[in-house]
This record gives sequence, C-alpha cells and structure tokens, in this order.
Amino acid sequence: MTVHFIGAGPGAPDLLTLRGRDIIASCPVCLYAGSLVPEAILDHCPKGARIVNTAPLDLDQIVAEIQAAHAAGQDVARLHSGDLSVWSAMGEQMRRLRALGIPVSVTPGVPAFAAAAAALGTELTLPGLAQSVVLTRTPGRASSMPEGETLTNFAATGATLAIHLSVQNLTRVVADLTPSYGADCPVAVVYRASWPDEQIVRGTLADIEDRLGEDIKRTALILVGPALAGEGFDESCLYAVDYDRRYRPQSSDSPWSGWTPEGQ
Ligand SMILES: C[S@@+](CC[C@H](N)C(=O)[O-])C[C@H]1O[C@@H](n2cnc3c(N)ncnc32)[C@H](O)[C@@H]1O
Repeated sequence: MTVHFIGAGPGAPDLLTLRGRDIIASCPVCLYAGSLVPEAILDHCPKGARIVNTAPLDLDQIVAEIQAAHAAGQDVARLHSGDLSVWSAMGEQMRRLRALGIPVSVTPGVPAFAAAAAALGTELTLPGLAQSVVLTRTPGRASSMPEGETLTNFAATGATLAIHLSVQNLTRVVADLTPSYGADCPVAVVYRASWPDEQIVRGTLADIEDRLGEDIKRTALILVGPALAGEGFDESCLYAVDYDRRYRPQSSDSPWSGWTPEGQ
C-alpha cells in the first residue's frame, strides 16, 4: 500500500500529467484538497472509489483516513493543487506517514506560476532583464514569514517575483516593491489561471490597485518585474548565428567539432 501524492495542476483538468491520471485511476481511495482541485479530475477515479474532500478536515483526520486505507491494503491518491513542492502541506503529511511506516510516492504537477505565465504568454526570465524567479508570498493568518524572506529583500535583486497567497495584501505588496522596482514597473495579476473564469489584469506598481478593483480577493498570482514588459530584452546567445556550442560547432577548430551526443 502506498500513498501517492499527486500535483493536480492549476485548474484545467487536462493540465494533469498522464502519470497522475494513471495513478488516480489505479487507487481505490482518493483524498483531494477540494478548495482548488477541480472536480473533473475525480472522473479518473475507478468506479466505487472512496473519494474524500479534505478541505474541511484537520491533519489528524486526514492521517486517520490514510491509516484506514493502509489497514485495508488500499492505495491512496492524495491530490493537491498545482505542484507539491510549494505550499501543498505535503511536508507535514509525509512526516506523519514516514513515522507510521506508510510508503509514499510523489508525482509533480503544473504549478500555478507556470500556468499564470502561460496565460500571459510571457517568459519570466528574459536576458538582460531578469534571470531569476522568486516564488514567494506575504505573511498570512496561518503562516508567518521567516526573517529575511521579505518582499523588500527580494525586490533588491530585481528578479521576477511570483507572489502567491497575497492578492488581498496588494497595498502592502505595492508599498514594499515600489522603492526598488520603481512605480512604472510592470505587474500582472492572474486570477484562476487555466480555469474557465480566468482573469488577467495588467498594470504597473503605480496603478495596479486601481485597475484590479475589489473583485479579486483570492486564488490569484501577482507577477512583478521588468520581464513582465515582454520587451527591451536581449536575445540569448544560445541561438545566435555565430555562437559556438556543442550542438552547432562553428568551425573545425571548435572544441565541439566532431562531438556527438552520448550513445548516438
Ligand atoms: C496554497 S497555494 C498552492 C500553490 C500550488 N501548490 C502551486 O504549485 O501553484 C494557493 C495559491 O497559489 C496561487 N494559485 C493557485 N492556483 C492558481 C491559479 N489557477 N491561478 C492563479 N493563482 C493560483 C494563488 O496565489 C493561491 O493563493
């Protein structure tokens, strides 16, 4: 018996991985975080599966569900939104399961920040503008932030910021970022990326609050940084006509001349 943690993706049911789909189809028990995992994904569960929405459960109750499946020798598909590596609460469940000697596996999913970037049609790392993406959040009722992980510190790097769980703190986000990025820095807020009711609001640090209005209060990502402009960046060397590289040696003197990929 194994508990299979599966990243269910950002919302669109067809953004689930094939591996995730097949594991769900093989598990007689499915626990899903109902606040963000789309119900259509549950169609992959086998007929007669026990399907439990864990949104109203506490950690003890979730572990009790898993222990019951374990006692019955039944595999469990454990679904969380997006990917499991960020803000999934997988860590605390895994710690309990390891202590109980219950085997686990992990299948990644499409994270919300990638779905938001896709909705914008934007690369978040544009040469000369930004080469790093910071996945972060602001403090919430249930989570404080470790000292040092402040928006002002991250802003000092000039990287692209993908700020989660924070659209309700937009005033503070704008105040913290404006000194480093400048009021004209581009911002995009993507609400429910890849869901049918997805919304995109673009602006700058100066006007994003006015543009957003009062409607969007949750399940949105705030993306900030010069790369969001989508212009004024350099071309990468990788595809430059004269760039000498392993896959495209420029002369017989090239260190890559005669090189072939291993095994070919
Ligand atoms: C608990 S975190 C889950 C993150 C998830 N594990 C991931 O990989 O993206 C929830 C936050 O992720 C962001 N989020 C999740 N799904 C989203 C979506 N479809 N569109 C925009 N933001 C989303 C929002 O900031 C939301 O408050």
